[in-house]
Amino acid sequence: MALYLAIANRKGGVGKSTVSVMLAHALSIWGGKRVLLVDIDSQCNASIILLGGQGWRDARDGRQTISDFFVDCFQTPHTFLDKYVVKGAGDVTATNGRKPTLDLLPGSLMIDEVQGDLFLDLANRAGGEKLVIDLSHRFGMLLRRFENAYDVVIMDCAPGLSFVTHAAIAVADRVIVPFRPDYVSMMAIDRISLIAERVTNLDELSAVPLSRRRYVCLPNFVRGRGAERLLVEEVGLTHPLTGVQLAHRDGIANAFEWSPNARTIEAKYGDGMHDLRRLYEEFSGLVLNGGAHAREYAHDRQQALSA
Ligand SMILES: Nc1ncnc2c1ncn2[C@@H]1O[C@H](COP(=O)(O)OP(=O)(O)OP(=O)(O)O)[C@@H](O)[C@H]1O
Ligand SMILES: [Mg+2]
Repeated sequence: MALYLAIANRKGGVGKSTVSVMLAHALSIWGGKRVLLVDIDSQCNASIILLGGQGWRDARDGRQTISDFFVDCFQTPHTFLDKYVVKGAGDVTATNGRKPTLDLLPGSLMIDEVQGDLFLDLANRAGGEKLVIDLSHRFGMLLRRFENAYDVVIMDCAPGLSFVTHAAIAVADRVIVPFRPDYVSMMAIDRISLIAERVTNLDELSAVPLSRRRYVCLPNFVRGRGAERLLVEEVGLTHPLTGVQLAHRDGIANAFEWSPNARTIEAKYGDGMHDLRRLYEEFSGLVLNGGAHAREYAHDRQQALSA
């Protein structure tokens, strides 16, 4: 059964798509895992990084996007899932030239409108105050439908907090929250942490030990200045932090660019290789044991929350 990772932060430009793609490359190439990246964002950045602009347009024209998947499967849960997924995505190979198993459920410019339409659809038929919960629940069930076909499902969330982002956070075994070491980014972490732990305020959050949280915060764009270090330490007082901190690197910025010719992972990431390796080491343990530990952990948290 796949391990589900949501890469989320309501703040834009903190590296959600970058981290999603880096993890997808590392876990498929070094971990040898079957990885599906689900692009939840209407900006479709992860899709364009993995397919290029034309590749993404071809997928869209072929109705291979998350919007098509939701619209078709919302009422008819038995629809064949494979047809929405682009196989063999990405422009990266292992050092020996082997292509990883890396598939993509491409993003859609229409995902925000589709959420509105499906909301109205549900409202017309059901209505009632549970409507919003029902809608997110339904999106979550649909996202979990890939769990038998992959080892890891990485969900690159949009900035902000749409229904689908709520759903991704709800169904994730782990939520990774990239942030920049500045005050605006730090404030955004509080909100996402409450949602991930399903508590209403920071007092309730503080009752959950850091080691038992379902989310973890990942410092990105770190330049190693003293003030940044203090900010990261401050985040670590309230929230769990990853051991890895991603530096601001040209190699990571350049990896955003898709190339029509497949390259080795070393050629793609250049001076970002060290960060990529550390990121992989941070999360590979969760995945290599089949995600059992993370799922058990998520299950414990669900039990604790419903008690
Ligand atoms: N560690 C890094 N070093 C250099 N550039 C980076 C790094 N992380 C991200 N970037 C660059 O910062 C920009 C924003 O990153 P990215 O698009 O991944 O953020 P995001 O959180 O997904 O944004 P959005 O909220 O708009 O979806 C991109 O141009 C990306 O290449
Ligand atoms: Mg993004």
